[in-house]
Amino acid sequence: MCGIMGYAGGKRAAEIIIEGLSRQEYRGYDSAGIALRCEDEIVSAKIVGRVSELARKVKELPKKCAESTSGIGHTRWATHGGVTETNAHPHESADGSVVLVHNGIVENSREIKSRLESEGVKFITQTDTEAACQLLAALYKKTRGDALESMKTLTAELRGAFALVILFRDRPGEIWCARRGSPLVAARDGSACYCASDPTALLAYTRDLFFLEEGEMARLSPEQCEFFGFGGEKKRKKTIRLNWDSVMADKGRHDHFMRKEIGEQPDVLRLTIDTHTILAEVAMDKSLALPPGLMKRVRRVQLVACGTSNYAALVARDIMESFDNSLDVSAEIASEYRYRNVAGGDDTLAVFVSQSGETADTLAAARIARARGTHCVAVTNVRGSTLDREIDRAVLSLAGPEVGVAATKTFMGQISILAMLSMALLKDRGTLSAGDEARLIGGLRSIPALQQSIIERENEIKTLAEKYAGSGGFFFIGRRECVPLTMEGALKLKEIAYLPSEAYAAGEMKHGPIAMLDEKLTVVALVPDTDLREKTLSNVEECRARNAPILLLVSEGDEAARAHATDIFFVPRTEPELFPFVAVIPLQLFAYHVARALGRDIDMPRNLAKSVTVE
Ligand code: F6R
Repeated sequence: MCGIMGYAGGKRAAEIIIEGLSRQEYRGYDSAGIALRCEDEIVSAKIVGRVSELARKVKELPKKCAESTSGIGHTRWATHGGVTETNAHPHESADGSVVLVHNGIVENSREIKSRLESEGVKFITQTDTEAACQLLAALYKKTRGDALESMKTLTAELRGAFALVILFRDRPGEIWCARRGSPLVAARDGSACYCASDPTALLAYTRDLFFLEEGEMARLSPEQCEFFGFGGEKKRKKTIRLNWDSVMADKGRHDHFMRKEIGEQPDVLRLTIDTHTILAEVAMDKSLALPPGLMKRVRRVQLVACGTSNYAALVARDIMESFDNSLDVSAEIASEYRYRNVAGGDDTLAVFVSQSGETADTLAAARIARARGTHCVAVTNVRGSTLDREIDRAVLSLAGPEVGVAATKTFMGQISILAMLSMALLKDRGTLSAGDEARLIGGLRSIPALQQSIIERENEIKTLAEKYAGSGGFFFIGRRECVPLTMEGALKLKEIAYLPSEAYAAGEMKHGPIAMLDEKLTVVALVPDTDLREKTLSNVEECRARNAPILLLVSEGDEAARAHATDIFFVPRTEPELFPFVAVIPLQLFAYHVARALGRDIDMPRNLAKSVTVE
């Protein structure tokens, strides 16, 4: 949500900033802008639309701007004020002394605005950000150009969340930053400093990054990155090395990041298994370093997350529950958990799952759980993210950078690491037998090849997707281990194809939703060959009797299921608990090809942001 890029160095700033913004396009945005120091003035360009259009507009700026060596850029995802060029960032103070970009929400912007207006300051946008900009200019004037002092007062006065990146007109080559609540990362490479919302924007320059903590500010110049607390005290910061490179964040031969990332899932699973097992044993319990005996004492495990991460949590809940019903395992939606009076304390383990590690609701939920004395573990894909830094016991999912807005390989990273974690926790508790452990690990090891075999059958899925792209809507149904998959399959279609799609536990259909069915709504039913096959097929028949076309996903070799289907897709067989690891691939490919058939913007679907850093 909003992407920021800043550069102070010796090279052409415009190109670096545009490149950094393009690498953050996936965060979601509707407008973009840049401010460049061009000799003694700061020149801005803004557009409503894509970064590529901004790049074209930058080429039309005065010639001296092409030689500019410092500046800031922004992609805006509108919260306060419509999607217009005026509301796009950077914002400039009325006196021209300050130019600033912002990610977050300034909650007291109205108060600040009316105060400054009564002092005669003219506001020109509807944004909350302009209040921060005008206030900083007023403070800068009052302190006679003391940037640190002005930043101290600004950060004390602003309420809400912000990552601010600032140019002062009379401070050439300097960029000032401040962070509370919204992510910001800085880096130094030779004679340049950079800052960005997202590490992927900086990977082309360095992998050693300074993650700004809550309540930290920075002054970046070609010579150095300096850090301060909000009180103005100097801080020494260490870099964190990211084990990613910029090639990982390239589309390669694919038309879309999403398609490339779907194809990377066998590798994600392989890497997770290789990293966290020794032969047929899970080897994560030691690195997790939970207090000795904790798992024997805890009564409940809460898996807390949002969106697709919540569905990954549901997969893990089902795995844990299937081996140990003496433990109360629940998958909780973070935006609800934070406001409910949920149980916690010394007998509770909460696992916070977030690929970005920056989701505002998940972070808030984790802070609440910690305050209740609950034992906390984080599972995130981004080393150095807020969740990783705030929760002592953080386990990384190993998906690498994901650029497509719709999560695919990070879901695989999450269910893989959560399966390992679940096994490790149950082993500690003494409820996972060596036989089951070996069976699950053996099952997991065989899955990358099964996933690959589905990817190789992509054309089969494409044909089905093209046939059903004109459907009026979809119901995804299944039972037990398939329920999280129905949710994920339906979410993918909503996100990238914008088609109505609902997920239902198959047994729930006749309690209401079945009333909606007719020949225009397609039912996608997940029916692996388990003890629940017959029951689920009965539910499928109920849907068929209402004339709904049925697309069945069944276990390989289940030819008898054809009788229940309009169309069928055979999913390779695996251990029953591990069905989601295999069956999610055709669901992702189905959504991808439906969206393609409908000409949607697959990597950057409308209205969505990759990392939801506001509540
Ligand atoms: C769906 C998707 C979102 C995220 C959700 C949580 O494709 O990407 O539903 O899963 O916004 O994000 P993280 O995992 O970063 O906390």
